[in-house]
Amino acid sequence: MKVLGIETSCDETAVAVVEDGRRILSNVIASQVELHARYGGVVPEAASRRHLEAIVPVLDEALERAGFTLRGLDAIAVTYGPGLAGALLVGVNFAKALAYASGLPLIGVNHLEGHVYAAWLEREEEPPFPLLALIVSGGHSDVVLVEGHGVYRRLGETVDDAAGEAFDKVARLLGLGFPGGPALDRLAQGAGRPALRLPRARVRGDYDFSFSGLKTRVQRIVRGEEGAVPETAELAAAFQESVVDSLVTKALKAAADHGARCIILSGGVAANSLLRAELARRSLLPVMAPPPELCTDNGAMIAAAGYWRLLAGERSAPVMDVEPGLRIG
Ligand code: KG4
Ligand code: ZN
Repeated sequence: MKVLGIETSCDETAVAVVEDGRRILSNVIASQVELHARYGGVVPEAASRRHLEAIVPVLDEALERAGFTLRGLDAIAVTYGPGLAGALLVGVNFAKALAYASGLPLIGVNHLEGHVYAAWLEREEEPPFPLLALIVSGGHSDVVLVEGHGVYRRLGETVDDAAGEAFDKVARLLGLGFPGGPALDRLAQGAGRPALRLPRARVRGDYDFSFSGLKTRVQRIVRGEEGAVPETAELAAAFQESVVDSLVTKALKAAADHGARCIILSGGVAANSLLRAELARRSLLPVMAPPPELCTDNGAMIAAAGYWRLLAGERSAPVMDVEPGLRIG
């Protein structure tokens, strides 16, 4: 089954063709990073407009690279939430029109479910259930038990900032530009192990996170309110170490407490080099972390998640709407 995956929930216009939920035939991403960088963050209105301009050429390129026309496809999957309402509307309305015109079945996909299914891409063996998914992106930090295809139980989440949001805000404090996560990661890599140790937040829930206190602490240090200001790279490394330690510790505890058979690391922050290394080093279970380019937003993960829903006989109504505040589990 060849599924077209369409993703426009934030600042990436992405379309992919994926066969049987695994094999990527094409995966085209038009990034809007340079558009939003000058504002230091994603501007929702500008994002919607850019999606409108990009969606047709991105679809054309995805079909061309896969070697198909619409007629060669079996279904259309599209992200319907969570995300920016105006941005989601572009993808969902485009997908609805395509489905109507082509007669192909349509399936709406939860963006977070898409991040989970990135772990199925280009992999022969299926991740075994139950599995623990750590979904860390710009908008979410969720610890989710996946008991079977489409069966989710959210065990933990952030009580304030998402992990990616914390990376981006701290990167901004350190003058690293937007998006800050990758820049902070690179800077920290050069610093090695930091001598400075920043605290890990205490949160009531066993598997919950909090990152806003850490961000405030970095702000105080940067402003010189805690004495001599350390090197930027040292501060970046200390921040990253604290975030990664919290994420890994909670995810491993959740996996052990719930009998998970493997751990999936996904979402944009799963591209972080220290997080990937530390989770693999400290976990007794197999860790499946898609390659970094499949961890950040893309259409292939949406096609993969849609495939399993279609296989279960699900279809979305032609009047499907967006759900900007959708959660998982
Ligand atoms: O999943 P994603 O592409 O979009 C959302 O659904 O939010 O995640 C984007 C987030 C941004 O906050 C970005 O800074 C972060 O992922 N990110 C990273 C790295 N690469 C992307 N954070 C830390 N280290 C990285 N290497
Ligand atoms: Zn995402």
